[in-house]
Amino acid sequence: MTHRSRNLAILGLQWGDEGKGKLVDLLSARFQNVVRFQGGNNAGHTVVVNGQSIALHQVPSGALHPECFLVVGSGVLLNLEVFRQELDRLSQRGVDVMGRLLISAKAHVILPHHIALDQWREGGAGANKIGTTGRGIGPAYEMKAARMGIRMGDLKHPETLVDRILPGYKEVRILLGPDASLPTPEAIVAQLMEFAKPLLSCIGDTQAHLMDAEKKGESILFEGAQATLLDIDHGTYPFVTSSNCSIGGLFTGTGLSHKSIGNVLGVAKAYTTRVGAGPMPSELLDATGARLREVGREFGTTTGRPRRCGWFDAPITRHAVRTNGADGLGLMKLDVLDGFPEVGLVIGYRNGHGELSANLPSCSQDWLDLTPEVRMFKGWSQPTRGVKSLSELPTEARGYLDALMEIVEAPIAYLSTGPDRDEGFVWPGCFLDGVI
Ligand code: IMP
Repeated sequence: MTHRSRNLAILGLQWGDEGKGKLVDLLSARFQNVVRFQGGNNAGHTVVVNGQSIALHQVPSGALHPECFLVVGSGVLLNLEVFRQELDRLSQRGVDVMGRLLISAKAHVILPHHIALDQWREGGAGANKIGTTGRGIGPAYEMKAARMGIRMGDLKHPETLVDRILPGYKEVRILLGPDASLPTPEAIVAQLMEFAKPLLSCIGDTQAHLMDAEKKGESILFEGAQATLLDIDHGTYPFVTSSNCSIGGLFTGTGLSHKSIGNVLGVAKAYTTRVGAGPMPSELLDATGARLREVGREFGTTTGRPRRCGWFDAPITRHAVRTNGADGLGLMKLDVLDGFPEVGLVIGYRNGHGELSANLPSCSQDWLDLTPEVRMFKGWSQPTRGVKSLSELPTEARGYLDALMEIVEAPIAYLSTGPDRDEGFVWPGCFLDGVI
């Protein structure tokens, strides 16, 4: 096996919150480099350090493994205030990342007026509310595309920053009006530099670092944030985030080529959730949906919002498997389905003319027309919670999983049966066999 084939990408296959964090946590000890390549502090997952939970939003999850080198790629957005808070919380728990953290000089920063604009849009009466996390993600990526953004490397030239910020700042001021409370550009820069000071030595050329790492035979774990259905191109536009959360974002957000990818592990829950507005044909607005939310503790890590819940949606997941070239599934939270008398699997959608298809519409209006076609399976009376091998799975659960794999066109590589590290198992014979 060459070093390249050891590199692994972990990507979300639904609308985020699939439990990628558990897999990254399980796997990162086996990799020498862990890389975030897109998104910002809209992402979030909780890790447990010495018995205490810490929510990480921007620091790569490999932080907890002292041998892991952490890379923040060029496609990431950083809110430096939040980043510093995460680093401080980690260091209070005895986790120090200095000396093993490299932030791309090309990564962009989120500024206070980006956050103000995001919240202004979401707070208005417009019909186009996305239900964003309110963290300034959209406006910061807009500024990047409009060539008015500030990159981490620019922080090494603080004297230029007020002038660099002004064009974007002025546009936000025009939209929000003269009475909107915004810090002055000078105050924004002063504060930014305060947060940035201890990080300046961590800014560098992450593309070169990763290429050198590969040359030396080191392995790389790519940690995706959000998920394919939130991808700005391949998701349920306009109800998406503003980055490419599927495989394409990995290349632009690291500067590596397809040759650097060994396997792609696509992560999905055994049911479906979504936060924020937008189509979700599988959504259950009844007691079943409420039970999934309660048992699965489906409340956002970043915003605390209750998540919309429904049965596993095979068409969206198949779309994500195909888009990412996923070699296998990390299927999470099967145990949440324990005790349901019946378990549903959305196998397709019917449009207004009654036609059944498992293809996804491209246009947001066409989603409104769809009703899910659900195949029901007998539930299992034996709980799957904590099951650690295929032979322990109840027959009914196995039947449900077999149908799921067939319709999404990907085999299960890891099955998670509970939140703890040891609740779950690697599917025998898959590409993860022997890796975890
Ligand atoms: P934004 O990324 O804050 O602009 O939000 C755009 C959409 O993506 C909203 O529906 C958010 O709820 C959703 N979103 C962004 N990040 C995450 C995440 O990490 N998990 C789940 N949903 C997310």
